[in-house]
Amino acid sequence: MCGIVGILANKPVAIDLVDALRRLEYRGYDSAGVATLENGHLDRRRAEGKLRNLETRLHEQPLQGHVGIGHTRWATHGRPTERNAHPHMSAKVGVVHNGIIENYRELKAELSSRGHVFETDTDTEAVVHLVTDELDKGLEPIAATKAALAKLQGAFALGIIFAGHDDLMIAARKGSPLAIGYGTGEVYLGSDAIALAPFTDTITYLDEGDWAVMRRSGVEIYDEAGSRVDRPKIKSVASALLVDKGNHRHFMAKEIHEQPEVVSHTLANYLDMGSGTIAFPDLGIDLAKIPRVTISACGTAYYAGLVGKYWIERYARVPVEIDIASEFRYREAPLVDGGLAVFVSQSGETADTLATLRYCKAGGQRIASIVNVRTSSIARESHAVLPTLAGPEIGVASTKAFSCQLSALACLAIAIGRAKGTITPAKEAELVKALIEVPRLMSSMLHSEQQYEDLAQYLSKARDVLFLGRGINYPLALEGALKLKEISYIHAEGYAAGELKHGPIALIDENVPVIVVAPDDDLFEKTVSNMQEVAARGGQIILISDAPAEKCGCKLVAHIKVPKGHDFANPLLYAVPIQLIAYHTAVFMGTDVDQPRNLAKSVTVE
Ligand code: AGP
Repeated sequence: MCGIVGILANKPVAIDLVDALRRLEYRGYDSAGVATLENGHLDRRRAEGKLRNLETRLHEQPLQGHVGIGHTRWATHGRPTERNAHPHMSAKVGVVHNGIIENYRELKAELSSRGHVFETDTDTEAVVHLVTDELDKGLEPIAATKAALAKLQGAFALGIIFAGHDDLMIAARKGSPLAIGYGTGEVYLGSDAIALAPFTDTITYLDEGDWAVMRRSGVEIYDEAGSRVDRPKIKSVASALLVDKGNHRHFMAKEIHEQPEVVSHTLANYLDMGSGTIAFPDLGIDLAKIPRVTISACGTAYYAGLVGKYWIERYARVPVEIDIASEFRYREAPLVDGGLAVFVSQSGETADTLATLRYCKAGGQRIASIVNVRTSSIARESHAVLPTLAGPEIGVASTKAFSCQLSALACLAIAIGRAKGTITPAKEAELVKALIEVPRLMSSMLHSEQQYEDLAQYLSKARDVLFLGRGINYPLALEGALKLKEISYIHAEGYAAGELKHGPIALIDENVPVIVVAPDDDLFEKTVSNMQEVAARGGQIILISDAPAEKCGCKLVAHIKVPKGHDFANPLLYAVPIQLIAYHTAVFMGTDVDQPRNLAKSVTVE
């Protein structure tokens, strides 16, 4: 994940910027840079690799400005070179950016046609030239930035400084978190409270869509519509912790909200955002020749793998065998020569999963693991590692790791399909575009959670809850049931919707909430029939869908609307509402959301 910092002070800020960036190193990066404003002019120093390289550059060529921005870059668009490192600049503006500007290619074409010269492969540079273009039209910095923000599409955070404006910095948040810090005659900007801890513990987190005009004397915050808003100033505890809850009540809430950012970084590890194509690492096996894929994992990671099965079989036309690791490791499953075995694990230390990996490795399979901890046992014993870039996941209930696992599996399916020729270049472009839109669509679901708080009160009275889904939504039903039961302690079961009439329907009465995961896809109508079977028996239906309520033809207790996305990307989008249902129900029940009873974050025993 990239890191953003900014300082408006009354002394040189370059070294403080680097110190703040050092506190964001946990996010991972491959280049860094700072820019300051001195005598009205912007100047910058950037370096590939670690911050010490930037410090060397600054020692050789110091910067003296009292206004500055800094950035640690995790390469998404363009290689991790000094040329692509932030801050990006024109003579008039300096910009640092975290996230994805989805429409940067269109913006780049339009701005280039108006004479703007692009020097890098980054999407960020489109922001530089867009703001510059508005300034060239005669707009003042605030109006120019407001006009530019209205043209940007994607999930991002920005920090901007302006030549000739020594007491001004503008910040904007749309999908990636940003915090503002308050000092004495100084103000600060950071991707989180951790970066600001050396300067202040009084901070404000910008809300989704907010942008802020920062001056030494104070900060004006505006919402997406341009109305002035007040956001609370809170006391941060980040100084003690290297990972904090931000402005969330629980780590789980913070991690649910981090998903747009961490999904975009995980996707960027497997996609070429510039060309809209897959850029998958070499697994050391010819994907065109694999006869079968085996997937094994536990819990939530297993459900991610189950979604992967649907993707790989549908788009790559390769048979997938999948099983929970605690069963796979003992049933002596026959393995086919030349097979690829994929292991999914957030911790990379789950004993059952590791044991199954060893079984498959001994059986001559090519081992690839999708892990969140690259130094873990499962990673070390794999032939190839496919990292999820979720960052540290503290909540025991897995959320952002799940959506990052899905991101890696979706890209694996495309990579195998391209290798096998079952996915054409046009289909590849379509599926990659569908994934690139996910962070923005995810963040649009994280603006308001009142409906989940209302639903939580209703669900808290339930003794049993059913989750239903068809096709690729079936694993989401299983995951939704697991999330709810593991943190609220309410018994919940996930079922394939078509299985209802083979027994579970006996459970249905007016005391049983039935949560239906049903995008308006090719199986929606069949799921509607199941909903009507439930309604006819008094079942209480909560629908999670992009479809309009009237398409269901039955009464709903609640209808959680999901933005319309490509069918391929739906599992990533539908993960958010099932997580929020579980979270708010547990909060209402008063359970220990981050550390539920009887559970451990990593199950390193059988
Ligand atoms: C999910 O919310 C749980 N934390 C649990 O099911 C978890 O996914 C499972 O134990 C697997 O852990 P891993 O991903 O670290 O292997």
